[in-house]
Amino acid sequence: MIEFQAQAGRARFEEAFEFARTQLRNLITRYPDFYPMYTVKGRWKHAGEAWTHWCDGFLPGMLWIVAQTEPDGTSEGRWWREQAERYSRPLEPRKHDREVHDLGFIFMSTYHRWHGLTGDPGLKAVVVEAGKTMGLRFRPKGRYLRSFVSEDSLFIDIMMNVGIVFHAALETGDRELFRVAMEHCLTTRRVLVRGDGSTAHEGLFDLETGEFLKQTTHQGYRGDSCWSRGLAWALYGFGTSYAYSRDARFLRTAEACAEFYLRHVPSDGVPPWDFDAPEESRTLLDTSAAAIAASGLLQLSRLAVDPARGQLYDAAARRILASLCEKHLAQGDPDWEGILKGGVYHLHKNLGVNESVMWGEHFFLEALSRALEA
Ligand code: GLY
Repeated sequence: MIEFQAQAGRARFEEAFEFARTQLRNLITRYPDFYPMYTVKGRWKHAGEAWTHWCDGFLPGMLWIVAQTEPDGTSEGRWWREQAERYSRPLEPRKHDREVHDLGFIFMSTYHRWHGLTGDPGLKAVVVEAGKTMGLRFRPKGRYLRSFVSEDSLFIDIMMNVGIVFHAALETGDRELFRVAMEHCLTTRRVLVRGDGSTAHEGLFDLETGEFLKQTTHQGYRGDSCWSRGLAWALYGFGTSYAYSRDARFLRTAEACAEFYLRHVPSDGVPPWDFDAPEESRTLLDTSAAAIAASGLLQLSRLAVDPARGQLYDAAARRILASLCEKHLAQGDPDWEGILKGGVYHLHKNLGVNESVMWGEHFFLEALSRALEA
């Protein structure tokens, strides 16, 4: 269970943010126009496989986070803004990409932030188009947005991408699209979130009847275990779905996931790669799950109806961030190109194990910027 000790203060978070800026600047200077996923021995560029093509929004997303913090009119601010635009623009054609279930990751991190800074309707149109494309993944039998692996598959990760479907529906007044987003969340809640707030990674359906068949996994330990990053995606994603829909069932689900996380995580707030990991891999952590949980908890702290819960989530997020800053930053290792060490992409395929991972970097920076806003 998480323990709230004396916390690292604002100065430590500012220092970590500054370190992240330095690593980002080094990354885009060393490997121009390269979109990394995970490091191998601390290096971003390598021949390791991608499994699926879902991460291209995270680097530009981080550039937008930095650009948002820069004062207007400075040459430094202009530089970050130019880099953010340069890395975002090539993503636009992917608004039609039907191969991945990750268009929320790709477009909410980039074009949505870009639109937030400019109000340009052309940028909003890109996000809306991507949201409509995501909506095409809906399977009426079973009532879910299908994963990239097959028609009969629902992933917990899609909870991080259903937000763009809500967004497109609300921007266009498309009630049918809104219904699709609602149905997906309700199905995920019913079949992948368990009574104790833990989550399964994947659900499989009968394509003929739409009947839910079983919980299973790709990246977790087992079908009946709780893969840590999946839980963090659910905690964050149900919070986002509540923010869009104001349906109290989604807030309760996000809170149940948060409660499971806080009760079962070690005292410093950084989980093993799977909450049910067997003895032999129990010491392998996933810092990316911690970073996602921290950012999701900061969001939830602002959404919570009960102020005491809000304070609890805020304190928990700061505790997690403090642990990441104290124990897992690559500061002090000049050969390591990432920001946060100790992420895990896909243990069974041996991809990005105990490495920096781009989504970990992105949500760590987002959480830091949220913590520094308050
Ligand atoms: N495929 C998304 C993840 O690795 O979390």
